[in-house]
Amino acid sequence: MTQDEQKRAVAQAALQYVPVGEIIGIGTGSTANFFIDELARIKHRIEGAVASSEVTANRLKQHGIEVLDLNSVSEIPVYIDGADEITRNMHMIKGGGGALTREKIVAAVAQKFICIADRSKLVGVLGKFPLPVEVIPMARSYVAREITLLGGQPAWRQGVTTDNGNIILDVHNLNIMNPVELETTLNQITGVVTNGLFARRGANVLLMGTDQGVETITL
Ligand code: A5P
Repeated sequence: MTQDEQKRAVAQAALQYVPVGEIIGIGTGSTANFFIDELARIKHRIEGAVASSEVTANRLKQHGIEVLDLNSVSEIPVYIDGADEITRNMHMIKGGGGALTREKIVAAVAQKFICIADRSKLVGVLGKFPLPVEVIPMARSYVAREITLLGGQPAWRQGVTTDNGNIILDVHNLNIMNPVELETTLNQITGVVTNGLFARRGANVLLMGTDQGVETITL
C-alpha cells in the first residue's frame, strides 16, 4: 500500500471508535483530513466535532459537520489525530502542521486518544523529526538560546504564524530518551506556549497502516 492508501485505511478503521450521539475531537494534518472525509459519510450519527485548527474546522464545515467551541463542551469521549512520530509506548511528536497547542488542548479534554498513522511514523526513539515548539513571538530568541543550552538546535519556521498568533521553533538533533521529562522541561521555559511532545498524555490506541492492512496497537 502507498502511504496515502495506508492513511485512508487507518482513517476508515477509526470510524469504529466514533461513539453514536457524541461530540468528537478532530486533529489536523493529511491523515486527519482523510478521517474527516470518512466521517462525513456517517455525520448524522454524531452531535458535532471540536476542531484542533482553523483548517480542520473549515474542512468539517464544508462537509456539513457542526463545529463546536471547546468552551461549550464538557466531555469529548474520543480524539482522533495523526502524528509525526510515535513509539510503541504511545509517546508522540506532533506539530508538523503547526497545530500542536490546540491539538494538545483538545486531547487533554478527551477521554481517549486514537492515533491514526502510516507505518513511516512508528519509531524506536523520538527526535529524528524536528520537535516543534510554539513560542510567544517576543520570546523567540530567548527561547532559542535556552533550547540550545539543552542540546537542541532550534530553527525558526519562517513565515508561519499559528492559529494563536505565535511562532514555531523546530528543534533538530534531539535523541529523546525521556519524552515525559523533556516535555515538562521545555514547557517550563518562559515564553514557550507548548511543545510537540505528547508524552504526559500519549495515545491510547494506535491504528497503524501497513502493507498487510491496519494494525491496532495498545499499551
Ligand atoms: C499537525 O500540527 C500535526 O500534529 C499532525 O497531526 C501531524 O503533523 C501529522 O500530520 P500528517 O497526518 O499530515 O502526517
